[in-house]
Amino acid sequence: MTASIIDGKAFAANLKEQIARKVSILKENHNLTPGLAVVLVGEDPASQVYVRNKNKSTKAAGMNSYEYLMDDDVSESELIAKVTELNGDPSVHGILVQLPLPKHINEAAVIETISPEKDVDGFHVINSGLLATGGKGMVPCTPLGCIMMLKDKLGSLSGLDAVVVGRSNIVGKPMAQLLLNESCTVTIAHSRTKNLGEVVGRSDIVVAAVGVPELVKGSWIKPGATVIDVGINRIEKDDGKTKLVGDVEFIPASERAGAITPVPGGVGPMTIAVLLQNTVTAACRQLAIDEPE
Ligand code: GUN
Repeated sequence: MTASIIDGKAFAANLKEQIARKVSILKENHNLTPGLAVVLVGEDPASQVYVRNKNKSTKAAGMNSYEYLMDDDVSESELIAKVTELNGDPSVHGILVQLPLPKHINEAAVIETISPEKDVDGFHVINSGLLATGGKGMVPCTPLGCIMMLKDKLGSLSGLDAVVVGRSNIVGKPMAQLLLNESCTVTIAHSRTKNLGEVVGRSDIVVAAVGVPELVKGSWIKPGATVIDVGINRIEKDDGKTKLVGDVEFIPASERAGAITPVPGGVGPMTIAVLLQNTVTAACRQLAIDEPE
């Protein structure tokens, strides 16, 4: 079997078009321009790239983008004061504090300061609690993007066996919750899991989000399974150059899977598109406006 490739880039481009259409309706009918504030602490090059892309995509969708750059020796209380100010700013509907934060800052304390209604990352405990109990909160962007692609590919996920490899608060745990909400039978595997190959081998859906290059072997994949690879790892090739690989061995996995996301061009482009969607949703909820279809 040769897997069909799930084109996250095309999927994200389509989603961004729909978001831009919703934004123009909100502007026209409700005089509402959704606004996203992104706070970046320090000068981590990867974070700078993400923030630049978020800024560009937000503006391209017709929304307001506010960027706050803070030195990496900023105090926790100064950062918390900035978040508190943004909580009270009616032109800001979504707040994202780029992670990771410098070691002297307690990430959890900062995240818990963000108003849950403006928490477009869905990282606040109120939002993770709502996700776990079937409530209407903000859902983390990367897992939500994965579910959108899975439902687009498979239709109903009900009754399927799914494994999530990785147990982070940002991807693994909310991903498992979303799959459970779709009535999958869900296993969460991680670095201590015994017989990972066996667990993967009985799964109709494999979501790899463990941050270990090519940990999930192609030979483990159940024939016809759908594989979503969240990993983005830069590795050195034999010739000394570097390349990006996922958490799944792509070529052998694509010979067994029914469908698979590539790296790059799979899950990656979806995250920002879903962030914009979450900002539109947050703005509509804050103003008690029905979100345009
Ligand atoms: N750093 C890497 N990915 C993310 C993300 O999705 N949200 C935030 N806040 N920081 C990140």
